[in-house]
Amino acid sequence: MKKNLGSVLALYPTPAVVIGTMVNGKVNWVLVGHVGIVGHDRILISLAKPHYTNQGVIETGKLSVNVVDEKLLPRADYVGIASGAKVDKSEVFAYRMGDAGAPLIEDSPLVMECEVVDNYQTETFDNFICKIANTYVEESVLNEKGKVDYTKLKPVLFEMPNYNYLATGDVIAKCTRLGKEYKDQLLNK
Ligand SMILES: Cc1cc2nc3c(=O)[nH]c(=O)nc-3n(C[C@H](O)[C@H](O)[C@H](O)COP(=O)(O)O)c2cc1C
Repeated sequence: MKKNLGSVLALYPTPAVVIGTMVNGKVNWVLVGHVGIVGHDRILISLAKPHYTNQGVIETGKLSVNVVDEKLLPRADYVGIASGAKVDKSEVFAYRMGDAGAPLIEDSPLVMECEVVDNYQTETFDNFICKIANTYVEESVLNEKGKVDYTKLKPVLFEMPNYNYLATGDVIAKCTRLGKEYKDQLLNK
């Protein structure tokens, strides 16, 4: 039997990413788990309004979304507990500036460089809607078709209720294959 937990945010796991932006002319990094996909050409980054990062995102309109793998996790976790308002986080990651003007972490296997096109504000959150300008990926995580192989990339996942990081799992099925098999069974009944 299911228990009703009430209104609980339970849409996990999500990928853990480090957001990079320039704040007052200096790079700042922040760990974020509340990310989303908006249609086919936009992503959403949800940042609490008091964060230092928000100033830079609002000022420059540019940010990078750096996917975190296990190697990057200790430093990614650190930028999730230290605020740029109090400490300088600019040297945590080696970076270079992307073609669209956002800082890109050298050690992240996949980085999306984004332009902010909207901000859906709630009382306490800036929810930045971003268009992806460029996507930079390590060639070692591409498959023979030139697509990202997420079983190689192994993005770290995040879940808030127990405050844990999870590993990405294995491929369990090819999309639509199981549905087609199920449909065939229905037709053959
Ligand atoms: C695992 C984890 C996930 C987090 N996810 C978010 C998030 O989705 N949105 C958010 O606003 N803050 C999130 N935080 C908190 C910020 O990373 C943290 O408050 C950070 O110090 C803010 O840095 P800043 O003030 O330099 O921007 C998360 C922290 C951790 C450890």
